Amino acid sequence: MMQGGKMVEIVIVKDYNEMSKKAAKIVTTQINGKPNSVLGFATGDTPRGMYEELIKLYNNGNVDFADIKAFNLDEYYGLEKENPQSYHYYMMENLFRHVNIKNENIHIPEGMAESIEIECEEYENKIKKVGGIDLQVLGIGRNGHIGFNEPDLKFEARTHFVKLDDDTIKANSRFFSSIQEMPTKAISMGIKTIMQAKKIILLASGKEKRDAIFKAVRGETTPEVPASVLQRHPNVIVIVDEETAALL
Ligand code: F6R
Repeated sequence: MMQGGKMVEIVIVKDYNEMSKKAAKIVTTQINGKPNSVLGFATGDTPRGMYEELIKLYNNGNVDFADIKAFNLDEYYGLEKENPQSYHYYMMENLFRHVNIKNENIHIPEGMAESIEIECEEYENKIKKVGGIDLQVLGIGRNGHIGFNEPDLKFEARTHFVKLDDDTIKANSRFFSSIQEMPTKAISMGIKTIMQAKKIILLASGKEKRDAIFKAVRGETTPEVPASVLQRHPNVIVIVDEETAALL
């Protein structure tokens, strides 16, 4: 089902599975239309199913990652690439090692960078050099964050060093054996970086995202709800399941 609304196109699907399939189809269409697309990827629980679908599509010969360039939204500060909780590891396990993307085309902020400042600047430059992101995939935090752009951060932010919100630390500590092991800092693409993507898909599933999605697409555009900035983007598709969409 599609609904009008502001600039944001909202697609409501039955459940997580359908959300994943729909998102994988959009990514595939993008790649097939432009085989050297620059894709922006997210981690977390939300896009796992989409990556599974993409791997299936790849194995069936429906999509080819040979010329794709990938840029991830974020990485924890202080985690080695080999750490199973790092987003490097997540991307290798959930997508990259299963498809034919070239290693040199994989870009994820370096959480162990000696100089965070240089790392952030270089990350922005790499995105610029390839002509910007064609399609950015986003999840949303319960607090409305996109990437690790926490509430109240200015919309002008580019790739930067982030101190994670208490709510994010609590939510993401589920992936760590204890909350003490959960990093409290990260490197994230900024809101401005994300807003420069030519097309964006925002995925959300389950009732714990209901409030954040409602505020993001129906509420006022405010840094208190970072995802609400997407209302100002001309080409956004929000794909949500029925549980998430209950308030829309
Ligand atoms: C991850 C990211 C985050 C997540 C968000 C939702 O790269 O940028 O913004 O998308 O925290 O996480 P999940 O999907 O685990 O609920």
